[in-house]
Amino acid sequence: MIGDLTIRLETPADYREVEYVTREAFWNHYVPGCDEHFLAHVLRESNCFISELDFVAVQQGRIVGNIMYTNAKIAGDDGAEYPVVSFGPISVLPEWQGNGVGSALILRSLSAARRLGHTAVLIYGDPAYYSRFGFVAAEKFGIATSDDHYADALQALELKRGSLNGKSGCFLEDHAYEVDTTASALFDKNFPPKDKLEGLPSQLKFLQHVSMRKPRR
Ligand SMILES: CC(C)(COP(=O)(O)OP(=O)(O)OC[C@H]1O[C@@H](n2cnc3c(N)ncnc32)[C@H](O)[C@@H]1OP(=O)(O)O)[C@@H](O)C(=O)NCCC(=O)NCCS
Repeated sequence: MIGDLTIRLETPADYREVEYVTREAFWNHYVPGCDEHFLAHVLRESNCFISELDFVAVQQGRIVGNIMYTNAKIAGDDGAEYPVVSFGPISVLPEWQGNGVGSALILRSLSAARRLGHTAVLIYGDPAYYSRFGFVAAEKFGIATSDDHYADALQALELKRGSLNGKSGCFLEDHAYEVDTTASALFDKNFPPKDKLEGLPSQLKFLQHVSMRKPRR
């Protein structure tokens, strides 16, 4: 863990630097290029965005990481809608990865979310990483994707014990996550050019993860 890491809320003066960090973290990681820096840009303007949970990690005066949260819901099998929160993108500059920055952002934001009264978090991500924070397969609570599949990548964490009991259904992220790829490509022109690479091990691993899903019923 790094000595003088500071976690604080993002301010408008940070926007550009955070988008740069996000682009560096995601570029070619899951697919050739990435859209997450554009996503960060549009999420802030979206109604689902939770500015009280928009944290940056600062090291030696430089932003090295960011996490963003949004309001989401479970469309319950009983016909009710249950509010939850979700996070993403979460980004750490490649040269700072593996030093506890991501963990610090997650732990700090989870405790802030709990303090704000949020009761559960649902995310898509690698279980190998998120299990260390207490996330479990959403399947354990009978919670599926929006198209009613149990997916390994869909994970849940109760911030209040028992809060997901009896809330089986489908997890619905806000529409703000549906990226306009044309607008994203245009937005990317504001950044230094970077090569798009195909077939990287991280991309193949991602494809494998995405395929790990089964119909709920
Ligand atoms: C995922 C990410 C935010 C983690 O931040 P970080 O600062 O590197 O994480 P930490 O230093 O707190 O934790 C590092 C540990 O997590 C592991 N880890 C990181 N990403 C992982 C992943 N996708 N799957 C499994 N383990 C992962 C590392 O191997 C390391 O393990 P160790 O503690 O056993 O050595 C960062 O790696 C990143 O920005 N990645 C690219 C963007 C991304 O994938 N974001 C998440 C989308 S769901």
